[in-house]
Amino acid sequence: MTKLLVIIGITGLQGSSVSRVFQNEPDWRIRGITRNPAKYKEDPQFQDVELAAADLDDQTSLEKAFKGANGIYAMTNFWESLKEDATFQQAENQGKKPNEIAMEREIQHGKNIIQAAAKQVATLDRLVFSTLSDSNKWSNGEIKWNLHFDGKGRYEAYLKQQFPDLAKKTSYLHVGYYLSNWKMNPSFAPRKEEDGNFVIRKFGLPNGKPIPFINPPNDTGHFVRALILSPSAPPGSSMLGYCELTTMEEYCTIWGGVHGVQCRAEVLTYEDALAQGMPEWMALEISESGTYVTKFGWAGGDPEVKHPKDLGVDVSKLTKIEEWIRQEDWSSVL
Ligand SMILES: NC(=O)c1ccc[n+]([C@@H]2O[C@H](COP(=O)([O-])OP(=O)(O)OC[C@H]3O[C@@H](n4cnc5c(N)ncnc54)[C@H](OP(=O)(O)O)[C@@H]3O)[C@@H](O)[C@H]2O)c1
Repeated sequence: MTKLLVIIGITGLQGSSVSRVFQNEPDWRIRGITRNPAKYKEDPQFQDVELAAADLDDQTSLEKAFKGANGIYAMTNFWESLKEDATFQQAENQGKKPNEIAMEREIQHGKNIIQAAAKQVATLDRLVFSTLSDSNKWSNGEIKWNLHFDGKGRYEAYLKQQFPDLAKKTSYLHVGYYLSNWKMNPSFAPRKEEDGNFVIRKFGLPNGKPIPFINPPNDTGHFVRALILSPSAPPGSSMLGYCELTTMEEYCTIWGGVHGVQCRAEVLTYEDALAQGMPEWMALEISESGTYVTKFGWAGGDPEVKHPKDLGVDVSKLTKIEEWIRQEDWSSVL
């Protein structure tokens, strides 16, 4: 009998990686959740995958999709809500910031997943949550606006308080900083200066301190494989998901070395971001995120969060930053 792994976000960066790695596990079959299975019916990467329609806003649809699951990979998407006009409308109606509405929705999505997974607790072996730490808690209230971290940490607390039996079967992946973020946010892209050298203006990233970089399409699956299958990662484990821990300054040196140019990192402040036209709530969200990871660390100093090598990850399969830089198409910035 094969085991069933249900993957939320299978069409996205993290979930598709989990799917690729588990397609090589002979004892497992995969059911991937998407809001729109028809759109991906012909996609070759899902040929051996059962695609199921479900929506994180709809708990009943999750209950159906989780039926018979031995493993679940769960993620929520804070940023998705900020692409929707309804979020901004709701913020205006309620006198809140758009990121507060996005966090409230993300927490609700997390609770919907937890309540649906709890119905399968008797047969479930492992739930793995993609998460980030509750920065308000780990900074003792100093950080107030890093809401794309906090919502995930808060539904984790809800799970532990309200569903102890499910919590006993749950492990956590604290996903690091995406190497690909420069494509989603052009302000992170290396920029050529008048003297021909390059600069990366970093915003929301620690100054001179190591950053847990991750290449989600490759690395996520290897982390999740260990959190589900490795005897070194019992249920309840928390992992910092990164391929290399390195500073932004070192990243710039590697990037410059690959391209035969000088490249340096420069800090972009909250005031710089406002001057560039970023809305105040977003500038606060990102700058507080930088303050948090600089002062308290990506996982806030939580001693339970371990390195991949200590939890049975085959680190030889993780991305090497220099190789990744060589393979990436930088023609738009060069
Ligand atoms: N950027 C970073 O450096 C970084 C670092 C750490 C953590 N993160 C976190 O990573 C998360 C994003 O993960 P990702 O990069 O894998 O996302 P992604 O590539 O943007 O994909 C999003 C996935 O979520 C699914 N989805 C979204 N809303 C859904 C809903 N209502 N119901 C069901 N499925 C839904 C989408 O499925 P369909 O569209 O097919 O339905 C898609 O598969 C965010 O929460 C972010 O905070 C990002």
